[in-house]
Amino acid sequence: MLVMAFETSCDDTSCAIVEDGRQVLSNIVSDQDELHERFGGIVPEVACRAHIENILPVMRQAIDAAEMKLSSVDAVAVTNTPGLIGSLLIGLTAAKAVSWAFDLPLATVNHLEAHSYAPWLNGEPPPLPAIGLVVSGGHTNLSCIRGPLEHELLGATRDDAAGEAFDKVANILKLGFPGGPVIEKTAENGDPEAVNFPRAWLNKDTLDFSFSGVKTAVLYHCLGQNASKDDIEDADYDPDFVANVAASFQKAVVDVLIAKTKLALEKTGLQTLIVGGGVAANKLLRQKLKELTHDLSVDLFLAPLKYCRDNAAIVGGLAYHLLKAKNLASLDAEAQP
Ligand code: KG4
Ligand code: ZN
Repeated sequence: MLVMAFETSCDDTSCAIVEDGRQVLSNIVSDQDELHERFGGIVPEVACRAHIENILPVMRQAIDAAEMKLSSVDAVAVTNTPGLIGSLLIGLTAAKAVSWAFDLPLATVNHLEAHSYAPWLNGEPPPLPAIGLVVSGGHTNLSCIRGPLEHELLGATRDDAAGEAFDKVANILKLGFPGGPVIEKTAENGDPEAVNFPRAWLNKDTLDFSFSGVKTAVLYHCLGQNASKDDIEDADYDPDFVANVAASFQKAVVDVLIAKTKLALEKTGLQTLIVGGGVAANKLLRQKLKELTHDLSVDLFLAPLKYCRDNAAIVGGLAYHLLKAKNLASLDAEAQP
């Protein structure tokens, strides 16, 4: 079954062709990093307008890269939740248009479940049930995964997501956007023990997270107690100082993610860990996850780097299971932000 999938939940416009839930024939992603950089974060209205411009060229590229014709597609899939409402609507409308014009079945996919599906693509399916960790710009979720479409939420962030914290701290350090990759790069020259930033809720028996405290701690450390975002513009930092803060912040976030994932594995006794989402591209997190699962004798299924960040291949892969089960969406399917 050839599925054409769309993903536009946030600021990446993507279209992919995926065969039988596993084989990725093409996966085109057009990011909007340059557009949002000057704002230090994603501006929903800007993202939605850029999706409108990008969606058809990205779709054409996906078809060309798969060396096929649109008429060979068997079904259409799209992310309809969660995300930015304007952004979701562009992908959903494109998918509905293709579904209607070519009389193809339509499946709507949950973005977080799609992130957890990344290890299935071009690889052996993970044994289930598993603990799933999704770390992205909008979410930090721990779940119990019983099937590709059966996720039970065990814990989530109560405030900022891990990726959001990376983006906001990069903004404080004047490193640009998106924050994750640039903090990771800057941290290579820094000392992760230089500043002891807070690790929230490590002593609590909960699988929830909180990352807004560490972001505020970075702001105060850089610009003084009671500083505000308005003070960032005038800041003039020493490069060694920035590297040390980046490394110490990254270490604090990774420590919390590892500790809570360990707790989830211990509480449930599950033997498989699946990790996806944009932040799963982080080298330190990947290394610490490997060490953790080695120590606990747990099987680790990490999203391949090319499928960490938002992309439509994970959507097309997961949708295969919905389509096979005849769990279809209608042309009046709604986007749920
Ligand atoms: O999954 P994703 O592409 O979009 C959402 O669903 O939000 O994740 C984007 C997030 C951004 O916050 C970005 O800064 C973060 O993932 N990110 C990283 C890295 N690469 C991307 N965070 C830490 N280290 C990275 N290497
Ligand atoms: Zn995402």
